[in-house]
Amino acid sequence: MNIIVAKDYKEMSQASSRMIEEQITKKPDAVLGLATGGTPLGTYKELVRSYKEGRADYRFLSTINLDEYVGLDPEHHQSYCYFMNQNFFQFINIDKKNTYIPYGKTEGLEQECRRYEEVIDTVGPPDLQLLGIGENGHIGFNEPGTSFDSETHIVHLTDSTREANARFFESMEDVPTKAITMGIRSIMKSQKIILLASGERKADAIYQLIHGEPDEQFPASSLKNHDDLTLIVDEDAYKKV
Ligand code: GLP
Repeated sequence: MNIIVAKDYKEMSQASSRMIEEQITKKPDAVLGLATGGTPLGTYKELVRSYKEGRADYRFLSTINLDEYVGLDPEHHQSYCYFMNQNFFQFINIDKKNTYIPYGKTEGLEQECRRYEEVIDTVGPPDLQLLGIGENGHIGFNEPGTSFDSETHIVHLTDSTREANARFFESMEDVPTKAITMGIRSIMKSQKIILLASGERKADAIYQLIHGEPDEQFPASSLKNHDDLTLIVDEDAYKKV
């Protein structure tokens, strides 16, 4: 595992956007695995800036997102589809048909999971997967106890994850109770993985990730079995290590 400790959130975002840019420069038709949440927002901002400065071209690129809430229309302001458009896709020259996000508004959830895993296997797997981490060690929406053999599946969100995400919704009742997420095995198919963490809130999780053994009770620990993992953390997230 490579570990990069950045001074603060901005430097963390710059370091990850640089790695993504290198990937795109090396392989213009690369597949990027993308994440949502507050943590990667700065990375997307940096990437948009470098695109505007003419340093990246997304014409041939594809993206595969990690997860989506069940029950939200893609146009819903809290859906991850909306998040990606608002914060990234609308600003770059990516072809929208090459952007993949699970569809959470379907009756056929099991079928959607199978379709999505097929997308990962045929369009992907990603050359580079960007990840955040939950305070309880979740990646994507793979909560503690998820099998390391899991592929795309439906999850019931834990109260702690719903509470952590409630800040984006009007009230706790509006936070969906279920999501579709790439599984641990789906994530591990990527060639290269970058995990980002910023702030003291993530310090315990980063400590456990670095010092603990792979354990299904702490989903991010599965990444220790990956042979190209880079952690990019800021000093606050690294302070307990
Ligand atoms: C959500 C997302 C995860 C993300 C996590 C942490 O649960 N599904 O992909 O890593 O939140 O979010 P944040 O970056 O806002 O702390």
